[in-house]
Amino acid sequence: MMYTPLNSAHLDQLARIVGAAHCLHDPETRRAFGSDYTEDFNFPPEAVVSPANTKEVAAVMRYCHEHVIPVTPIGALTGLSGGALSVYGGVGLSLRRMNRIISIDTDNHQVLVQPAVIVQKLQEAVEAKGLYYAPDPASRGSSFIGGNLAENSGGPRAVKYGVTKDWVLNLEVVLPTGEVLHTGANTLKNSTGYNLTQLMVGSEGTLGIITQATLKLIPRPQNDLLMLVPFPSASSACEAVSAIFKAGITPSALEFMERDAVQYTLDHTDAAGLDLPDDVEAHLLIEVDGKPPEVLMQECETILGVVESHGAGEVLFADDQAKKDQLWYMRRRVGEAVKQHSIYKEEDTVVPRYELPALLRGVKNIGRAYGFSSVCYGHAGDGNLHVNIIKGEIDDRTWKEELPKAIREIFELVRALGGTISGEHGIGLVQKDFMDIVFPSSSLELMWAVKKSFDPRLIMNPGKVFPQHFWNMQGEEVTPE
Ligand code: LAC
Ligand code: ZN
Repeated sequence: MMYTPLNSAHLDQLARIVGAAHCLHDPETRRAFGSDYTEDFNFPPEAVVSPANTKEVAAVMRYCHEHVIPVTPIGALTGLSGGALSVYGGVGLSLRRMNRIISIDTDNHQVLVQPAVIVQKLQEAVEAKGLYYAPDPASRGSSFIGGNLAENSGGPRAVKYGVTKDWVLNLEVVLPTGEVLHTGANTLKNSTGYNLTQLMVGSEGTLGIITQATLKLIPRPQNDLLMLVPFPSASSACEAVSAIFKAGITPSALEFMERDAVQYTLDHTDAAGLDLPDDVEAHLLIEVDGKPPEVLMQECETILGVVESHGAGEVLFADDQAKKDQLWYMRRRVGEAVKQHSIYKEEDTVVPRYELPALLRGVKNIGRAYGFSSVCYGHAGDGNLHVNIIKGEIDDRTWKEELPKAIREIFELVRALGGTISGEHGIGLVQKDFMDIVFPSSSLELMWAVKKSFDPRLIMNPGKVFPQHFWNMQGEEVTPE
C-alpha cells in the first residue's frame, strides 16, 4: 500500500471539515510545521490541518483513512525525538486550537484538559486551587499536555512524583479510522480489561489522537529546599546519587549537570548568577519537599553528610524563592544552551540508578575511542542521563557514518547495564533504528500487530518508533537530511 499524495480535491474536502482558514498549505506554514526541537530536521506536511474539536478530528481521520493519507499529530513542536515531523508528508494535524482546561474537579482532585493546554498553564491553574500536577519537563513553558502524553514525558520531579503516565486516569482518543474511544474510567483504581490508557501514553501518536485527558492531581506539597552541590569529580557526583536514596531520602529532584552543561548555559542563555570554580567537574541540584521545614532541614543534613563523604565542595543553599527560581531557570535552559553551542545529537539514556557512574564512564570511554566529546546532564535520581554528542569540528562524513556506530555502542552499554534507549524523549524518528538493541524481533512484531489493529492502513504517524524496514513498504523511503 502506498500513501496518496494530497491533491486539490483532498485539500478542498479537508478545508470543508475544518474551515479554509484552518487548512493551510502555503510553503511558509508547511515549513514552520516541519521542524521540532530535534536536531535541524525539516519534514513539512503537505497541509497543516487544525481541527476545533473531537468531531472535526474524527472527520479528518475518517477521510484520511479512506484515502490512505498519512497523518502526523502535531502539538507544540518541542519534541526531542522527531515524533511530530511529517516524514511521509500528508496531513500535519495540529491540535493547537484544542487548548482549553475544561474543568478542575476539586472534590475528586482531577482535571479534564484538551491536548493543547500548555503544561505550565495547567500547573498554574491547578495550583491556584491548592492542587498539584507534578510532571514538569524542561519544555513546560511551551509544550502541550497532549505531546507530554504522547511521549510519556518526565522532567526533574519524576524522581519522586512519577512521569506523565502516572497522572493519567482516562483518555478520549480518536482512532485512525475516525472512531472515538474512551480508554478507561475517571477512577483512581481500575482493574477492568486491558489498560488502553497506558497503551496510548507513550505511543508517540502512532495509535490515535488524544483529544481529551482526565488527569489526577494531588494537594500541592508545602515547603521545599533546594541546594546546588559542586563536585571535583563527575564520577563521584554520580556515585553520591544512589547513596542519597540508600540513606533513606527521596528527593523531589536530583539533577546532574556536567561542568560544560553549566558553562554553555552561562555562555549562551540569559541564565546567570553562578560562579564556576576551576576545580568543579559536575553539580548535583537537589530538592526536597512536602514536609515541615524542620524535617526538610534534617533531610538536607543527611544529604550533606552523603555528598561530603563523596568529596563535594561548598554547597550553595537557595535561601529564598528568587535564588531557587534562578537555579531552576539555569537547569531548564541547559538543553537550549547545548543546541546554541553546536550541532549535536542527544541520546536519552536511562539505567538503574546505581549504574549511573558506570554509564557516565562508558560514555566517555566510547567518546574517546571514536573521537567525540559529549556533555551530559539529566535526571540522575532516575538514572536518566541526557548524553549530548557535540559535532564541533567533526567532519560531516564521520558524523554521518561513524557516529551511529558510537551511538549503537552507547545503547549496547545501556542495555548491558539493565537500562533502555529512551527515558523520556521517546523513540520517534531518530532512535527507531536502534530498537533492535532492546527488543528482539518477536517483541517488535507483537508491537507491530498492535499498531496494525489500531491502524490497519498505517496512516498514523508513519516512519516513527518501528525500525525503517517496517515502513519501507509503505511509501517512499525516507532519509533524514
Ligand atoms: C531536560 C530535557 C532535555 O532534561 O529533557 O532538560
Ligand atoms: Zn530531561
